[in-house]
Amino acid sequence: MVFLILPPLVGPTILFLVVYIAFKHVTRPKPIPDVPSLPAISFFGNGLDIAKHYKKTETIHDAFIDVLRKTGGMVLGQVLISAFTPILLTADPDQIDRILISQDWDRGIRSTGVFKPLIPHALLALSIDEEYKAHKRAFAFGVSSSFLKETSKRFIEEDHALIDTWSSQTGEWFDPEPELTYRQARAISAVVFGEPSNLIDKDLKTLFKTLSAGPLAPIKRMIEKVRPTNREAYKRIIQYVQSRTTISRKKFSEGGDVALIENMIDGIVQKEAESGVAVLSPDGLRDELVSMILAGDETSVTTQLWVLKFLSNHPAIQYKLRQHLLERVEPLDVRSPTVDDLTPEHTPFLEAVIQEVLRVGNPVAIIGREAMRDTTLVGPSGGKSFPAPKGTKILLLLGPEGTEGRVGKDTMEFKPERWLNEKGEYDSSAVWQASFAKGPRACYGSKQALISIRMFIVYISLTFFLEKPPPKLQSTRRVERVTLRPSDLVIKLKPWEKLEQGEN
Ligand code: HEM
Repeated sequence: MVFLILPPLVGPTILFLVVYIAFKHVTRPKPIPDVPSLPAISFFGNGLDIAKHYKKTETIHDAFIDVLRKTGGMVLGQVLISAFTPILLTADPDQIDRILISQDWDRGIRSTGVFKPLIPHALLALSIDEEYKAHKRAFAFGVSSSFLKETSKRFIEEDHALIDTWSSQTGEWFDPEPELTYRQARAISAVVFGEPSNLIDKDLKTLFKTLSAGPLAPIKRMIEKVRPTNREAYKRIIQYVQSRTTISRKKFSEGGDVALIENMIDGIVQKEAESGVAVLSPDGLRDELVSMILAGDETSVTTQLWVLKFLSNHPAIQYKLRQHLLERVEPLDVRSPTVDDLTPEHTPFLEAVIQEVLRVGNPVAIIGREAMRDTTLVGPSGGKSFPAPKGTKILLLLGPEGTEGRVGKDTMEFKPERWLNEKGEYDSSAVWQASFAKGPRACYGSKQALISIRMFIVYISLTFFLEKPPPKLQSTRRVERVTLRPSDLVIKLKPWEKLEQGEN
């Protein structure tokens, strides 16, 4: 009745106000109570802030660190991806360690989901369940010292070839990424499939786009997945995996030379032959083999790029490292180094350099965890426990940013010596770092990665001096792909003999 006696515009105005207030109420940002966050706007949460920061720094990781800094601490903060989706963040080493080793937390759907569209049956795409455990058991041979020693030869072959190629590029600034990508793809393909394959190298690059990170990742992934070029690349990779598996099965059924397991397919097929049943489902085997390439390729190339970045920025460390290696490793033209030559005990400074590259370069910068049951976290102010109900999501920022309390004010600086004790021995507990994660879901390939990076550094450091780049190219700014790579990286190589003879 009241509408009949009010002027005609009042009705619509009241209606508009009611709808507006209801909308504001529904879309009101809903952060997790008692966890500091930046002011969030209706509907978008902190999404616009994050997108702006991403545009400026090209990394989501740095945007999240910024949130933690602005909200007063590294132990626990949150970001609202939209008004409705708060995600907890931590960069605190104690908090990270507790979560990584606890059975209460696992990779949740957000983390496994990155890989699910492409390789749904691989470790990377699974939460810990029976399928996951069966895959872990099946691939246990891949971390045995005999397998690692055998496969280290594949990396050495590519290191030799890399040195040959780069020897013809001395004296000029160039981008090392294409050749490193090519070499690493060949080496890892030989480890997984028994032959260095260029097909994998090319198609992997294409497929990697379907795993892109960044704020619009889910949309980007959807678009990339249906692109004909990507579908073709996926098809070729699958055909390749199948053909290599057939070759391996034939070899075993004909009783060929199978005493020495030199690649992952042979490792699995040998188990099949011994037990008389399939160790993994066909899809499981296919996805796991592709995943080993995906997991091992990008991460290792990124680490090699950081090696080059830090070494070229730090000539004094190059001199020290070369001297260290000359004293402990046979000259490369006499014999290639072995896995046993390059242990933390025998070459402690080499190990210190690698661990510091991983710590500061921080290739896999963010990993996600989800509470599998009701549990607790250390609260934002530190010390007090904070409820984390089942389903709580948290991003662990693995870099050095949150380690000032443990490592010191210079934690962001590249200083390999911090890993050595007063006797010059390598001490793995001297500094905190978690580049390969820890606990039940730690990196499967960490041993292999370390072996291949040790070899790479030895070949580079004993052959070339890397010239210090001009100041504007010394920055350690990162760009985010699936991993965090150094931007602005170019290198200029000088053979040590020329340097020692004083030649330009
Ligand atoms: C420097 C090189 C590498 C780095 C920094 C690295 C880092 C990591 C990290 C941080 C994780 C844990 C991810 C998470 O929990 O969300 C991981 C998992 C994994 N990595 Fe690596 N990785 C490297 C090389 C490799 C290589 C060479 C391989 C294979 C040969 C590999 C295979 C895997 C697999 C299969 C997983 C999943 C393990 C699981 O979920 O149980 N990685 N890696």
